[in-house]
Amino acid sequence: MRLTAKKIIDYKKQNKKITALTAYDYSTAKYFDKANVDIILVGDSLAQVALGYDSTTKVSLEEMLVFTKAVSRGVQNALVVGDMPFMSYQISTQEATKNAGEFIKSGAQAVKIEGASPYIIETIKHIVQSGIPVMGHLGFTPQYINTIGGHFVSGKNLETTLEILKAAKKLEEAGVFSIVLEMVPTQSAKFISENLDVPTIGIGAGKFCDGQILVSDDALGKYDNFCPKFAKQYVNLKEEISKAAQNYVKDVLEGNFPNDEQSFALSEDEAKKLENYTQN
Ligand code: KIV
Repeated sequence: MRLTAKKIIDYKKQNKKITALTAYDYSTAKYFDKANVDIILVGDSLAQVALGYDSTTKVSLEEMLVFTKAVSRGVQNALVVGDMPFMSYQISTQEATKNAGEFIKSGAQAVKIEGASPYIIETIKHIVQSGIPVMGHLGFTPQYINTIGGHFVSGKNLETTLEILKAAKKLEEAGVFSIVLEMVPTQSAKFISENLDVPTIGIGAGKFCDGQILVSDDALGKYDNFCPKFAKQYVNLKEEISKAAQNYVKDVLEGNFPNDEQSFALSEDEAKKLENYTQN
């Protein structure tokens, strides 16, 4: 049965850890769903890992929706969250709500939005009131990279930790069902998590968050342009894919692929006819 945003909040009350991974294609999403991952985020990290852009700010709404459709087709049980890309929710609340709706029409059950400025809070309220669950995102927020100026840890002292908590409280009041905390020290993330009713989903935010999320290409060892300190690699797909491709090239060049097993054969009769046939 499909996990809902409401059940994700219940998990926190029940002290049950929430598991989340990003996915960008049908097959991977299907395997993650079968592995009982609770939340599958179609993250705008696909800008880098699937499309080869140098920043998440480059991916368009249209591109995000193609990947959301693919992932949604592979998922039956997990909650699919569509990551609203840069400039799809910053122009006006009306446009943001319409765009959030496009994710739902593409098969997601919720959307994620970065930040907690007064405008973002108003926009989130409107989207939630329209019937679309929203996941917040605080700490390091990649879509603001040009104003932040780099990949920095947030909440490194009491003052900034309290600022994140204040922002998280506003998100909670606006109706989010969970908040991603990215690159926040363990103790700060623990304090923030303990002072919220909605669950925190950590990425580089230590083990005391209510749940954890990883970019799947990091977890699967597939993307090697940049490896964040907080990522854990569970398999080296880069090596496996490279080895498989090298073996394939070798097999074809040496005439070892395809063999009879991978080919279609004529019946003996037809093969004989073809052999004896000489074209004028
Ligand atoms: O786009 C993404 O993959 C994300 C995760 C880092 C949470 O936002």
